[in-house]
Amino acid sequence: MRAVRYHQYGGVETLVVEEVAEPLPGAGEIRVRVAVAGVNAVDWKVRSGAVRDVLPVELPAIPGRDAVGVVDATGAGVRGVRVGERVFGLGGVTGATAELAVFSAWAPAPGAWSDEEAAGAGLASVTALGGLNALGPLRGRTLLVEGAAGGVGSAAVEIAVARGATVIGTAGERNHGFLSGLGAVPTTYGPGLAQRLAALAPGGVNLALDTAASGSLADLIAITGDPARVATVADYANAHRLGVHLANAENDPALLAEAGELGRQGRYTPPIERTYPLERIADAHAHAARGHTRGKLVVRV
Ligand SMILES: NC(=O)c1ccc[n+]([C@@H]2O[C@H](COP(=O)([O-])OP(=O)(O)OC[C@H]3O[C@@H](n4cnc5c(N)ncnc54)[C@H](OP(=O)(O)O)[C@@H]3O)[C@@H](O)[C@H]2O)c1
Repeated sequence: MRAVRYHQYGGVETLVVEEVAEPLPGAGEIRVRVAVAGVNAVDWKVRSGAVRDVLPVELPAIPGRDAVGVVDATGAGVRGVRVGERVFGLGGVTGATAELAVFSAWAPAPGAWSDEEAAGAGLASVTALGGLNALGPLRGRTLLVEGAAGGVGSAAVEIAVARGATVIGTAGERNHGFLSGLGAVPTTYGPGLAQRLAALAPGGVNLALDTAASGSLADLIAITGDPARVATVADYANAHRLGVHLANAENDPALLAEAGELGRQGRYTPPIERTYPLERIADAHAHAARGHTRGKLVVRV
């Protein structure tokens, strides 16, 4: 099969498209003929070698954590899914940017989603749901999402709005219209955030979800009044020190099913900034690494 690979850690020039052996699904896993794969921050962080101490991969490695496609084979013990069914889901830290990928967690892809949208829903939705679930009930609460225009942030906005929260999202000015379209009140991140929020939410901000790792956790604690009302999916360095919730993506089919159900209801549609062809994977990684993605980047396989 054709796949993207890198044979050593390094820059985008390490990414090549080549013929590789087909993967086999293990017990409890499925193999999918990939239509579109997601591009996530973890892809370029792992490829660069920057996180090799915490997330080492076997080289050569196929980048990609999530995708959408049609089930092609099932491993031992797998029930409730048919060969030919269209599913979106998650594999390991690597492996998705290929004609065939193995998933350990998946859910039926809603017909309302294009392949691009479904590919953008895997890691972003389980990460956003992990962070939101750590904060407890959202109905009637005012939630701040730090980094609301990114892949995880935009998913968190849509899902929190669907759960009945009033959502304020931080982003650069060029993304304020985008955030309004997702149902959030936009504001700028950085110095003066507490003052801007006081004007936007005179009743106070109850909860905050950080997806940006911009060093603002102490400010978010001051804004909400309690570290227990703050969660981060990104700021590992400060989460434990400051006592906020740290949520990691779980390969959890129940979370994917919840995201898919919101998709069917038209309440969660991953916004796609750009679709790259497989051959332009280096441009996709470079785009992601600039840190200003609006919604999701995906690669058509
Ligand atoms: N814990 C886990 O399991 C897990 C899973 C997935 C992701 N993550 C982590 O979560 C983070 C977000 O991932 P992602 O895929 O959403 O990334 P992304 O799509 O690349 O996010 C980019 C967004 O960050 C915003 N941003 C940049 N600087 C900012 C700042 N100083 N303050 C607030 N927002 C800022 C940008 O908005 P503007 O363009 O408007 O500036 C852009 O929309 C990454 O660090 C990633 O590694 C963790």
